Amino acid sequence: MKMSTGFFLLLLCASLVHAQRRIDFISIDCGSPSKPYEDTDTNITYSPDGDYIDTGINQNISSEYMYPKYPNLPFPLSDLRSFPLGNKNCYTLRPEAGKGSLNLIRASFLYGNYNGESKLPEFDLYLDVNFWSTVRFGNASDIVTKEIIGFAQSDSMHICLVNKGLGTPFISALESRPLNSSTYGTEYGTSASLVFFKRLDIGSSNGTGRYGDDVYDRIWSLYVSPSWDTVSTSLPINTYENGYRAPFEVIKTAARPQNGSEPLNLYWNTTGMDDQFYIFMYFAEVEHLARNQSRKFNISWNGSPLFGPVVPRYLQADIVSNSRALVGKDHQISIYKTENSTLPPILNAIEVFKVMQLVESPTFSEDVEAITNVKTTYQIKKIWAGDPCGPKNFSWEGLKCNYSLSLPRITSLNLNSSNLSGIIAASIANLSSLESLDLSNNNLTGPVPQFLEELKSLRILNLKGNQLSGSVPNALLERSEARLLALSVDSQNLCGSDSCKKKKKIVVPIVASLLSALVLLIVVIVVWKLRRKRKTATEGENFNKTGRTIASKKCQFTHEEVLEITKNFQTVIGKGGFGIVYHGYMKDGTQVAVKMLSPSSSQGPREFQTEAELLMRIHHRNLASFVGYCDDADNLALIYEYMPNGNLRGCLSDSDRSSLMTWEMRLRIAIDAAQGLEYLHHGCKPPIVHRDVKTANILLSENLEAKIADFGLSKVFPSDNEPDVVTTVMGTAGYLDPEYYNCQRLNEKSDVYSFGVVLLELITGQPAIIKSDEYVHIVEWVNPELQRGDITSVLDPRMQEGCDVNSVWKALEVAMACTTSTSQHRATMDFVLSELKRCLEMELSRHLERTPGSTEELRVRFAPYTSTSSTEVFSMYTDSTNADSMTGPFPR
Ligand SMILES: *[C@@H]1O[C@H](CO)[C@@H](O)[C@H](O)[C@H]1NC(C)=O
Ligand SMILES: *[C@@H]1O[C@H](CO)[C@@H](O)[C@H](O)[C@H]1NC(C)=O
Ligand SMILES: *[C@@H]1O[C@H](CO)[C@@H](O)[C@H](O)[C@H]1NC(C)=O
Ligand SMILES: *[C@@H]1O[C@H](CO)[C@@H](O)[C@H](O)[C@H]1NC(C)=O
Ligand SMILES: *[C@@H]1O[C@H](CO)[C@@H](O)[C@H](O)[C@H]1NC(C)=O
Ligand SMILES: *[C@@H]1O[C@H](CO)[C@@H](O)[C@H](O)[C@H]1NC(C)=O
Ligand SMILES: *[C@@H]1O[C@H](CO)[C@@H](O)[C@H](O)[C@H]1NC(C)=O
Ligand SMILES: *[C@@H]1O[C@H](CO)[C@@H](O)[C@H](O)[C@H]1NC(C)=O
Ligand SMILES: *[C@@H]1O[C@H](CO)[C@@H](O)[C@H](O)[C@H]1NC(C)=O
Repeated sequence: MKMSTGFFLLLLCASLVHAQRRIDFISIDCGSPSKPYEDTDTNITYSPDGDYIDTGINQNISSEYMYPKYPNLPFPLSDLRSFPLGNKNCYTLRPEAGKGSLNLIRASFLYGNYNGESKLPEFDLYLDVNFWSTVRFGNASDIVTKEIIGFAQSDSMHICLVNKGLGTPFISALESRPLNSSTYGTEYGTSASLVFFKRLDIGSSNGTGRYGDDVYDRIWSLYVSPSWDTVSTSLPINTYENGYRAPFEVIKTAARPQNGSEPLNLYWNTTGMDDQFYIFMYFAEVEHLARNQSRKFNISWNGSPLFGPVVPRYLQADIVSNSRALVGKDHQISIYKTENSTLPPILNAIEVFKVMQLVESPTFSEDVEAITNVKTTYQIKKIWAGDPCGPKNFSWEGLKCNYSLSLPRITSLNLNSSNLSGIIAASIANLSSLESLDLSNNNLTGPVPQFLEELKSLRILNLKGNQLSGSVPNALLERSEARLLALSVDSQNLCGSDSCKKKKKIVVPIVASLLSALVLLIVVIVVWKLRRKRKTATEGENFNKTGRTIASKKCQFTHEEVLEITKNFQTVIGKGGFGIVYHGYMKDGTQVAVKMLSPSSSQGPREFQTEAELLMRIHHRNLASFVGYCDDADNLALIYEYMPNGNLRGCLSDSDRSSLMTWEMRLRIAIDAAQGLEYLHHGCKPPIVHRDVKTANILLSENLEAKIADFGLSKVFPSDNEPDVVTTVMGTAGYLDPEYYNCQRLNEKSDVYSFGVVLLELITGQPAIIKSDEYVHIVEWVNPELQRGDITSVLDPRMQEGCDVNSVWKALEVAMACTTSTSQHRATMDFVLSELKRCLEMELSRHLERTPGSTEELRVRFAPYTSTSSTEVFSMYTDSTNADSMTGPFPR
């Protein structure tokens, strides 16, 4: 009785939400000239688009694509807005919850031969400055829908259509739905969006897919497979415990495999090797289980355990999602019952998204504000939409930007012949990186303003062809005379008038006093520098003798700050090449590892400096990221991001942890490390040889992503044409390139050798030097077994889930190609990397197809995964650009 009251309240609550949910929806019928209206199919109120965009033209689709031939045409799609002008046109949405809010954005497109040309266009879609998707059509009646879930990076979000020269972009409908911002989380936090891939309502055979009780107005595709049975309930289900709020229509149905001992399999693939996916699976028990019944299952991805065990709660909707992205081309999700579960597994619904990382940055906000002010002041009629500089190559007409800084800056503004009138707008002075300003041939009046002097980078200023009065400010004239500024003004603004001459006289004393101030300043600087030099010479003598002091104050810390960060060196987490490594916390709570250089190490300071200088220059996701350093007198410290899973050596020598490392995980670690090295060798100019590649220097993040650390021994080549450098031999026994050791000639092939040893350790689980009766080097240990063609004896027996034999063979071949004794015959890192990626592909495909014969014996466990009998291909094939398109009838 009590329970049913609870449900009644929930239902009441649901209907209240239903009635109110549409207030903060933004629903735009693009190209609609009329007033807002309520769509009778969905009860959603659509607005015309005038408030969201000021470019483009309204169009109607051709009548042959409307009623009666297409009776189910959604009304908002019968008209559209097209953009024949400008290469980038944008809608600006302002979500009610503002900056940082999470929103689902859906754009719909129906060509319908609106322009009578019967030619399907193709164009790109951007969310703010980041590429979202390409819009392509199969035919004129094809409805293409693109959806993305993303955080508002500012108060507004720009949805931009970019003309690629393949036809005029257009859009039919645009919708934005606010989500609970604690849902749909990824490891990337707010710096990634989720591009829609699939959203399946499992087990439903009727319904519209778009339900009034979905508070987020998600559109679900109905899905049942012939090898599944459906189960459902009509009792209310509690969907309020989490923010995902699955609609009742979706959650009340589920599917289970017809053969209770088979798993439920779902499969999809893409063309992108590096495509990253997130899945959100919905579970609710819809059957009332008897006392002796149980339903318990595990979920795996490509054979690796993902979640579990899961026991769905009766009439309670729960959600599970992966915390680390699923990366690769082929993806198979298997839901299989545990041994003593009496009932088969179920699945109520699933959503699949592709990660879109926000790699591009928006324009520097002061520049955006200034140029927006210029736009409104002069009511500029150009197509100035979205971000001024981004996406790259699609900046506003008349603007040029510098993209080499962390945020793009506006460097050139050309408003020549743009019908400007009134005075020169003060906001122009806020474009502080401006190098070129052209306001010629307009109807500007008033003086040439003083504030133009504030533009310190200005090299070109053209004010010709205006009605400006008065004279040009002196600072500008002086810079022009010194040839620092190319100044073009109408002659009446130039000197010649009396008032101007008078001004020129005052210039002399000003210049004189400026000069004396300058002299004074130089004296002060020189004195200060001398004093500082003396001070540092006494404090850190041997350090400074070795070379330049390290630049950049930003990541410099004092010894006191290091004490604070490490809480007086409370926790030791390791002992590195040159001293002890401590755990610490930065002020903002981020965990760091602090490497203290031991004072007793004689060679220390030099390596310390090499490492700090290198770390300043190098940024790569597979190289340990550098937080800062301390060079207070005798206290030298390097501060890195903290890697909670320690180093690879520790992981491999701990039998508990290494038994959890599947072949696939090991391959991913090898690929990560290879990427880091490949970057040092081929991505850095000049190239860098690490000189101490070993498993102890490969650190593992929380997600087991590998990063290479310890650049203390790294050697930067002075130039490209001097590839071999004679040096004293450094490095770690077991990893040392024999040629380097014997001849002391160093090149990047020495790292390749060491990497080969690392790869062998990953395959075999053995250390570089194996201690049995005597000490044996790992290469010597593996070689005879390989000659005999027997690789099972060298495989790490702790890899319990087996592996694809061909993949391991290939990896062994790669390791051997790395460890040949002459460097000339050794592979390069880019070759190694591409081969390892092939290995990973082979290993991943093992779970997806039946492979005959020899591979069978290695599959120790997880036999059910290889069965494909009830595998459902729910997306036959998608390429990476079209991965998110959802074509077909617009669900209503
Ligand atoms: C739209 O509203 C009407 C009347 O309130 C209701 O009967 C109908 O079920 C609603 N349709 C949808 C799809 O919510
Ligand atoms: C589109 O159709 C509507 C209604 O049929 C009409 O009022 C409007 O003028 C048409 N727009 C264009 C651009 O033809
Ligand atoms: C148009 O394309 C859609 C999706 O590709 C397809 O379902 C539909 O049958 C096609 N229509 C025609 C008339 O070819
Ligand atoms: C959907 O199908 C189920 C049985 O398959 C039936 O009970 C239900 O009434 C149907 N719903 C609608 C809206 O047709
Ligand atoms: C958002 O979801 C979280 C849990 O997922 C919940 O605690 C919170 O109340 C939700 N917020 C709103 C506004 O619904
Ligand atoms: C169900 O699957 C199991 C394992 O794949 C198989 O052994 C059994 O024969 C199947 N049962 C039926 C009825 O197909
Ligand atoms: C995706 O899978 C389908 C069906 O198994 C296959 O035909 C297609 O070639 C695969 N595509 C890629 C890119 O691997
Ligand atoms: C299921 O089996 C495992 C071991 O196989 C056992 O630990 C567990 O208690 C069993 N659970 C039930 C409900 O029987
Ligand atoms: C410039 O502005 C003045 C005053 O507003 C106006 O009389 C004149 O016609 C304008 N000239 C042009 C070329 O627009």
